[in-house]
Amino acid sequence: MRTLITNGTVVNADLSAAADVLIDGEKIVAVGRGLAGSDLAAGAERTVDASGKYVIPGAIDVHTHMELPFGGTFAKDTFETGTRAAAFGGTTSIIDFAVQSKGATLHAGLDTWMAKAQGNACTDYGFHMIISDVNDATLAEMDQLVAEGITDFKLFTAYPGVFLSDDGSIFRAMQQTEKNGGLIMMHAENGLAIDIVAGQLAAAGKTDPYYHGVARYPIFEGEASNRVIRLAEAAHVPVYIVHLSSRDALEEVRAARDRGSMAFAETCPQYLFLSLDDMGNGFNGAKFVCSPPLRPKDHWESLWQGLVKDDLQVVSTDHCPFDFETQKQLGVGDFRKVPNGLPGVEDRVDLLHDGGVVGGRITRERWVEIVSAAPARMFGLSGVKGVVAPGADADIVIYDPARRHTISARTHHMDVDYSCYEGRPVVGGSDIVMSRGRVIVEDGDWKGEKGWGKFMKRRTAREYLV
Ligand code: URP
Ligand code: ZN
Ligand code: ZN
Repeated sequence: MRTLITNGTVVNADLSAAADVLIDGEKIVAVGRGLAGSDLAAGAERTVDASGKYVIPGAIDVHTHMELPFGGTFAKDTFETGTRAAAFGGTTSIIDFAVQSKGATLHAGLDTWMAKAQGNACTDYGFHMIISDVNDATLAEMDQLVAEGITDFKLFTAYPGVFLSDDGSIFRAMQQTEKNGGLIMMHAENGLAIDIVAGQLAAAGKTDPYYHGVARYPIFEGEASNRVIRLAEAAHVPVYIVHLSSRDALEEVRAARDRGSMAFAETCPQYLFLSLDDMGNGFNGAKFVCSPPLRPKDHWESLWQGLVKDDLQVVSTDHCPFDFETQKQLGVGDFRKVPNGLPGVEDRVDLLHDGGVVGGRITRERWVEIVSAAPARMFGLSGVKGVVAPGADADIVIYDPARRHTISARTHHMDVDYSCYEGRPVVGGSDIVMSRGRVIVEDGDWKGEKGWGKFMKRRTAREYLV
């Protein structure tokens, strides 16, 4: 099947240009002016007129948690529902987190997550690996995983008793990635200090979800970010701070980058558009409980500056949805028991277009970079995803920069009973979404298929970062 996209503006991270795009099977084969009517495009079965639209690379969300067991329940979206919702929002690849259970092997965790995704995902998917135990056996397994295309490992300075690793364990994992070329991703909050404050607040009767936000001080994120960056410097490896939420943590990343450190970071839409104020209003605040928590509004501008100046390279979602009416209720009477996580995989591209490009904070090229090109580059997919260019996968979104819609749980496709952005109007939306040459969303209709998504075996960080 050959498809020709004509009359659009191709927007890549480095350049926008009026150009046609020719797709043959799963790949882009040509990008240029005047392809319509050329010998190259002769016999194309389908022509799509993209006049007035952007032709952008399908977005990549490198931080999702489909079906994550957490806080006594499971994140609600499956690989089927979550990737389908992602596609409606212009995201054509996700990288999710497989989890090592304590005492089990990394491969056992990977097999479990592969089984959840295979035959179910509607878009392409890859995995990072969450390491719960660092020991000689799991360190050796890290090398095997890198060879199998799972090239990043997430460790935590948060969640004592669940995922927290001590500094020695984190350093050992970093030393191992120095040998195998992988990347360490860090959830950087001082979980032990947070638990002290959270316990004190709860003992004082401050049990509403709002106090989840109060207990997790920004300085606890700044301290942990500095600590793990310094450990990475000692191990001579790149480190990627996930879901960075605060000015305090950003200052540590910026200082590290200024001194030449290989420190990288992502933020998420919730830290750019939502604030601690949303966590008020009694138990309704549980809808917004995630870690790190939402911050006071005065952190927003710093994060946008971080995106403009490339101290933050990526915006991902940390999509981890729990129904409000059932799952979030586990925390009634004690904010420490609210399952941590928010839905967002469907909204990221539009929120960033609306608040970023339309809002005059970033260019359309930078928008494409932070939602697609940089995720591809940082996570071993360069040349395959994240670019509209010959040889790349035909993951393409025909994006209407003038389309308007209002975000609502009544119309979204995520399998969760609320939206954090309920009632928010946004400018910009995906008209057509293609995954490897196949139209999977067209004018709001689903054309894709459960099981279409393929596992993405990724290259290592060392090939492109260092
Ligand atoms: O609240 C969050 N972020 N839930 C998902 C788990 C994590 O720490 O990323
Ligand atoms: Zn985390
Ligand atoms: Zn996460």
